[in-house]
Amino acid sequence: MVVIVYITTIILSGSVIDTNNIISKNNIIVLVVFILLAYVLSVIISNKFIVPLKRVEKGLKAVSEGKLPDISRIKSTEEFPEYQELMNSYVSMLKVIKKNTFDLNSQESKTEIILEHMADGVMAFSTTKEIVHMNKAAMRMLNITEVEDNFDSICKKLNLAADYSKIMYLPNYQSVEAKCEIGDLALSVVFAPFFSDELNPLGVIMIIRNITDSVKTDNVRKEFVANVSHELKTPLTSIRGYSETIMNGDLTYQEIMRFSKVINQEANRMSRMVSDLLQLSRMDYNRVSFNPVTLNTIDTLKKICEKVRFEAEEKGHKLELICSENTPNIYVDKSSIEQIVINILTNSIKYTPDNGLIRIYAGPIENRVYIKVIDNGIGIPQKDLDRVFERFYRVDKARSRKMGGTGLGLSIVKEMVEGNNGTIVMDSKLNEGTEVTMTFPTTKG
Ligand SMILES: Nc1ncnc2c1ncn2[C@@H]1O[C@H](COP(=O)(O)OP(=O)(O)OP(=O)(O)O)[C@@H](O)[C@H]1O
Ligand SMILES: [Mg+2]
Repeated sequence: MVVIVYITTIILSGSVIDTNNIISKNNIIVLVVFILLAYVLSVIISNKFIVPLKRVEKGLKAVSEGKLPDISRIKSTEEFPEYQELMNSYVSMLKVIKKNTFDLNSQESKTEIILEHMADGVMAFSTTKEIVHMNKAAMRMLNITEVEDNFDSICKKLNLAADYSKIMYLPNYQSVEAKCEIGDLALSVVFAPFFSDELNPLGVIMIIRNITDSVKTDNVRKEFVANVSHELKTPLTSIRGYSETIMNGDLTYQEIMRFSKVINQEANRMSRMVSDLLQLSRMDYNRVSFNPVTLNTIDTLKKICEKVRFEAEEKGHKLELICSENTPNIYVDKSSIEQIVINILTNSIKYTPDNGLIRIYAGPIENRVYIKVIDNGIGIPQKDLDRVFERFYRVDKARSRKMGGTGLGLSIVKEMVEGNNGTIVMDSKLNEGTEVTMTFPTTKG
């Protein structure tokens, strides 16, 4: 084309090449014009046809490298009318890629956040058993800090024998569950394979759940049922035994009276236990409403002392009430506070050898009222102190049972104290005595 333009220009200019091939002055001008024209033409062609293609090519290269060109910097498609359709498609393609990338990224970060904040441990293993993902909960539960473990070492840590290939070739949506213990933790571990879009297995997912609390609750429930059965069986056995003896006849009046007394005592114990259990169950299901009222602390304690005085004096105990003059009013449910203090005092009376000393103190403490019961009784060994608030827990089962105790008193006390926004702490020294300290609110709120 350049040649054609050159020849045409020469012809049109009417110049000729002289015989000696010397370019005339006119020809030089024509040549310069030609070069200039060719340059201008090439710039125009390049701007119109090549530049937009180059830009698209550069943009596509960037996309292939995972970078997105800035759409706002792409000049208006009107600038390249010849390629309007191409440029429109290019821009809309970039917009679609940008939207999809954004959706994908936000989906990924959402999944990441969910995984990281899950209470359950989640781990993913490749087909070669390497860890490809592990969330914080899994690290915490298994005490792993670095990703140096693999499926086998994790299973060893958990004391589990799991067949990797069997799990990996499980049908879609099927899983295997196992239970194990690691330190103080009880864990439930679920293994499931994960697949590609074409349903080829890509590895195994492991979900680790901390079931320590539910195992504990389950054990407490089992223990509770065993305790109730045992506690009911003992009095029932003696009731049956004594009543059969009476029915067999040949007994003196005194014997009949003695056996009947035992039957009556055992029946009373059973009925007390059943009503204690019902009370606990009502509190468990929040069916007990505590209606706090403002009470004069000293008057309330005086009345309670009078209620147990006879029982205390029967054992020769001295009962003393020592209150600070500035003891504030107490804000609690009236019948609860009576039952709480009577339970504590009854324990002191029961577990203090005859002629003991039981003192009740009351006074202000940090915007609250404190009530303290101190006895000089048999005391509680240190190892049992934490457990005395558990249902049916008794330090000396035989001794407590002989005294008619069921081991439910302090568990009821604890529930009631908490229901009245109070606190309770027990301190004791074996063979020296026991000290129970409670605090309660003085006013509403
Ligand atoms: N003041 C105390 N001195 C010594 N031991 C105590 C005292 N108070 C409680 N205990 C111990 O704590 C155990 C639990 O007390 P709790 O009041 O719950 O049951 P209990 O007195 O045996 O039976 P219940 O109160 O149901 O009739 C008692 O069996 C006893 O071993
Ligand atoms: Mg008791």
